[in-house]
Parts: sequence; structure tokens; C-alpha cells
Amino acid sequence: MIPMLDLKLQYRMLQKEIDSAVAEVLSGTQYVQGPNVRRFENEVAKYLQVKHAISCNSGSDALHLAMRACGIGQDDEVITTPFSFAATAEAVAHVGATAVYVDIDPVTLCITAESIEPAISPKTRAILPVHIFGQAADMPGICALARRYGLQVIEDCAQSFGSRLAKQHTGTFGDASCFSFYPSKNLGGCGDGGLFATNSDELAAQFSLLKNHGCETRNRHHAVGWNSRLDELQAVILRIKLKHIDQFNRQRVLAASHYASLLGPLPVQIPRQTDDLSHVYHQYTILSQERTGIIDALQKHQIGHAVYYPIPLPRQKAFSSISRSLDLSNTDRVCRRCISLPIFPEISHSQIETVADTIKQVHAG
Ligand SMILES: Cc1ncc(COP(=O)(O)O)c(C=O)c1O
Repeated sequence: MIPMLDLKLQYRMLQKEIDSAVAEVLSGTQYVQGPNVRRFENEVAKYLQVKHAISCNSGSDALHLAMRACGIGQDDEVITTPFSFAATAEAVAHVGATAVYVDIDPVTLCITAESIEPAISPKTRAILPVHIFGQAADMPGICALARRYGLQVIEDCAQSFGSRLAKQHTGTFGDASCFSFYPSKNLGGCGDGGLFATNSDELAAQFSLLKNHGCETRNRHHAVGWNSRLDELQAVILRIKLKHIDQFNRQRVLAASHYASLLGPLPVQIPRQTDDLSHVYHQYTILSQERTGIIDALQKHQIGHAVYYPIPLPRQKAFSSISRSLDLSNTDRVCRRCISLPIFPEISHSQIETVADTIKQVHAG
């Protein structure tokens, strides 16, 4: 049996350090707004090379409150990708704006400046690209376009912690960015967690207010806010994992290149290969016309797999009436063919070979 991801291995490797840090927090009893939260934020800011890193409850909250901090609301349009998790669409919906979906690039599976430009209207306020599966979108191109039209860029980095383009981290190209520390993410906690990053003092101040009941100082409420704080236990665990994130991501890249060497000759589309961390393989997702056969074979051999994502966001009941879409032919084709295979930093070569052999047999037979 090969799981889709195995969190036990990472916990075992860091168990001593995590257990003793957790015990210290438990006995210290400062569970909310404790010192590890601030330290974690400072460490992430330094790692990403960004001025402000502000933690919150989840990647979903980071996105929603980022929209608010950026002043996006009713009558505004936000151009985004149809090929993402629901939280991307929810963030736009929560502030009453309209999501405008444009097609993805067939190779990177991200939206591009070329697909975005025709969707820009007088109502467009922002672009919300997603670095899907850990693949960095073309941020220089998207930011240049945004500058030309005076639009804000908010990056959804939920799946891309640690990925970079020419040494610059995703999450530092746009006006603001949002990260998730859900346990399965490249930097994953032991519960929910998220983070907002920006170089803007103004956006940082606004986000900080919104995530903590609109409070600047105790008992002074300057805005109607939310309770969206990262807790001290998550912060202390994430601080430990952050020290290893580049190593974890490099291990994912190695696993991906092993997959590529085995699956490359088959009639499937494999993710772009990289050794520069521009793709950090949160998922290893292939495209195949034989998806049903592959799923049956993986199931038979008890090999983990998942279809991310079978339905484009604007074709979901929740979002269809509150969005508009351009031509989404690439997205529709990708949704029919995509299948994600097991990947995690500790996956072994022999596990990858078993997965690849199973897929090979489908094409042989
Ligand atoms: C692309 C994307 N955006 C946002 C989120 C939301 O993050 P969270 O689960 O921390 O709320 C996720 C989580 O799966 C995601 O994959």
C-alpha cells in the first residue's frame, strides 16, 4: 500500500523537537498570541524576504481578509483561475465581488498574462493567480500587465510555499499573498493555519486589524473584524518545520524527477521538470486520456491518488451564478484528464517505481 502522503514520517523525524516544544507551550499556557507566533512571523518574513508576514487561522481566511484589506467589494471584478480549490473562489464571493475566470496554460496549469488581458474590464480591480500544485505562475508577466492597467495582484500561495522564480519567492511579486499551513501543505502544521505577506505597510496594518476583531490595541476597535489568529501550538511546530522547508522541497523535486524519468516515455503529460524550485510539487499531477483505467489500477494496488480538480470552479453550483468566464477549453480538458499521484518528501524510489509500473501496465494492456 502506498499512501497519497505520509505525515508520520516527517513527524517521526522531528518528533523529539516537536514534542518538547509543544510541552513547553502547554506548560507555559500562553496559547493565543504567544511569543512563538511573532517569532514565526518574523522568520517567515526573513525567509520570503518580505516586509510583513502576518499569520492567521487558515489559507482561506488569509485570502478572504486579503480581499477586504485590498478594499475589494461589490461591483468589483477579480480575475482568477478556474482550476483551484474552492477557497480561491470563496474569497472573492465573501466580499461580494465577481470572479472572472480565464483559461489556464496547458503546461503550467496556471493563468497567464495572455489569458488575463482579454478579461480586463472597467470593473476589474485585482488579479488572483494561484501557483497551482506548487508551480510558480509567470509572475513577472502578470505583474507587468497589472501595472499597465493599475490592478492589484494577490497571489494564492497555498500550495507553493518555498517555490521561487529566479531566486525570488512566490508570494513576494504581487501586492499581497496568502499561504496555507494545512497539514498536507509543503509547510504544514498539525491543524489549520495561514499567513498574509506584503511589502505594503498599509495593507499589513489593514490585515492585522481585520484578523483580530479590528483591534489595534486592547479594547480599541477600529474596524469590524474577525477572530482569525494562528495559535501558539501551530506556530511552535511551524517554526521547527520552517527550518527544513528547502530540504523538504528539494526532496519533492527529486521524487518528481524520478517520476519523470519513468513516466516520460508514456503517453501522459507530466509536470514541468525543474531543479530550481520554480515547482515545489505540492502535487505530482499528470494528464492522461486513460484516467479511468489508471484510477482503477491504482485502486486495485492500494495506491493513493486524487483528482484535483474534476470540475472548474465556475461550473460548481456555488459559484456559477456569481462569476463570469471566458473560453475555458484548456481547463475543461485538464479537468477531464488530471490525476495526482503520491508525493511527499520522504517517498522512496521503490514506491515511485511501483506507482509508475502500475501506470505503465495500464498503457501496455
Ligand atoms: C489553492 C488553495 N487556496 C486556498 C486554500 C485554503 O487553505 P486552507 O485550507 O488553509 O484554508 C487551499 C487549501 O487547500 C488551496 O489549495
